[in-house]
Amino acid sequence: MARPNCFEHLHPPTIPAREARFTYTFGLGGMSLFLFLSLIVTGVPLMFVYVPTAVSAADSIRAITYVAPFGWLLRNLHYWAAVLLLLTAGFHLLRVVFSGSYKRPRRFNWLLGLATLLLSLLLSFSGYVLRWDVDTFGALTVGTNIVRLFPLLGDWLYGLLVGGPDIADATVVRFYTWHTLGLIVPALLLLGWHLFRVRRDGGVSHQSPVSGLQSPNSPKPPRISRRELVQREGIAMLALLCLLFALSLFWDAPLAPSVDPLAGPLAEPSDIAAPWFFLWVQALLRRLSPLWAGILIPLGVTAVLALLPWLFDTEAEGTAVWFHPAGRRVQVVVIVLAIGIIALTLLELWG
Ligand code: HEM
Repeated sequence: MARPNCFEHLHPPTIPAREARFTYTFGLGGMSLFLFLSLIVTGVPLMFVYVPTAVSAADSIRAITYVAPFGWLLRNLHYWAAVLLLLTAGFHLLRVVFSGSYKRPRRFNWLLGLATLLLSLLLSFSGYVLRWDVDTFGALTVGTNIVRLFPLLGDWLYGLLVGGPDIADATVVRFYTWHTLGLIVPALLLLGWHLFRVRRDGGVSHQSPVSGLQSPNSPKPPRISRRELVQREGIAMLALLCLLFALSLFWDAPLAPSVDPLAGPLAEPSDIAAPWFFLWVQALLRRLSPLWAGILIPLGVTAVLALLPWLFDTEAEGTAVWFHPAGRRVQVVVIVLAIGIIALTLLELWG
C-alpha cells in the first residue's frame, strides 16, 4: 500500500464514516483553513507594490488595481478570500455549537478557535484600513477614538495603533505591520494549535457509547480511510477555488475616493463606513454611547461566547448529535446572539 502523503498525515489513519460525511462538518473548518492560506498566497505579491505612507497608500492601491499585471485579480482574490473566511469561520462556529462539539474534551479547542476568529476579524479590519480611502479613513478615525475609551489601557492602545497623537504616516506603517506580521504570525500559530488539538482531542467529534445513541455492545460504526477523506477535501477545495475565482472575476473589491487632506475632519456619524463585519457595531454606535457600543457590548459578546462551554451544558452528553436537547441552553444563547448581530447589520444596511 502507498505511503501516506503529507495531507494524509494531517488525519488519523481512519475516520468514523458518519462524521466524515460532508453534511456533518460541511467542510467549514477545512474551507476556513484553505481561505486563510489563500490570503497569504495572494497577500505577499500585493506587498511588493503597496506603499505604506499616508500620501502614497491610496495611489499604490490604484497602481495595483489598474497598472500592475493581474494586480486587479490578485486584489479581488485577496478581498473575496477575506470575506469568505469570516463567513466560513462563523458558520463553522455555528456547526460546532449545534452539533455539541464544543463539549469536553474540546472546550479548550473552542477557545483556540474563537481566538483565531477574533484575530481574523482584526486582520480584516487592518486590511480594510490599508485601502486608505474616505470610507476606511472614517472607520479608522472612529475606531481609534473608541479604543481611547478603553478603561485604563485606552491611551496606551491608541498609541500602539496610531503611532502618535494624530493619524499620520506612522499610522499606516503600524496598520501595515500589524496586518502583514503582528497579527498574521499569532493567527498562524493559533491555527496550527487549533488543528493539532483536533487530533489530540480524538479527531472530529463523534458519538461514543457514553455520549451517543449506541450501546457499548452495538457493532463498531463504519470508518473510512484518510486517503478517501483527503480526496473528498481536495474536491471541496477545488469547488471553493472556483467560487473564489468566479467572485473575483465578476465583482471588484471596493475602492472609494482618496482622502482629501484639505477636507477637514471626517468623523461625523454620516461619514462612518464600517466594514461589513462591523456594521452591527456601527448600528449600536448610532444608538448608544461609544463606550457601550464600541467596547462593553462587543467585549461582552466575546466573553459570553468564550465561556459558553463552561457556563452551561458542560457534560459530554449530546456530542456529535445535531440539536441535542442536552445542549439547548448554549444553542439558544448562540441563536439569540446571531439574530441580534444579523438584525443590527440589516438595520444599518437598509434602515
Ligand atoms: C478561523 C478559522 C478556523 C479554522 C481555520 C478552523 C479549522 C478547523 C478544522 C479544520 C477543524 C476540523 C474539522 C472541521 O472542519 O470542523 C476544526 C474543528 C474545530 N473547531 Fe475550528 N477553525 C476555525 C475557527 C473556529 C472557531 C471560531 C471555533 C469556535 C469558537 C472553532 C472551534 C472548533 C472546535 C471545537 C473543533 C472540534 C470540532 C469537532 O471535533 O467536531 N473553530 N476547526
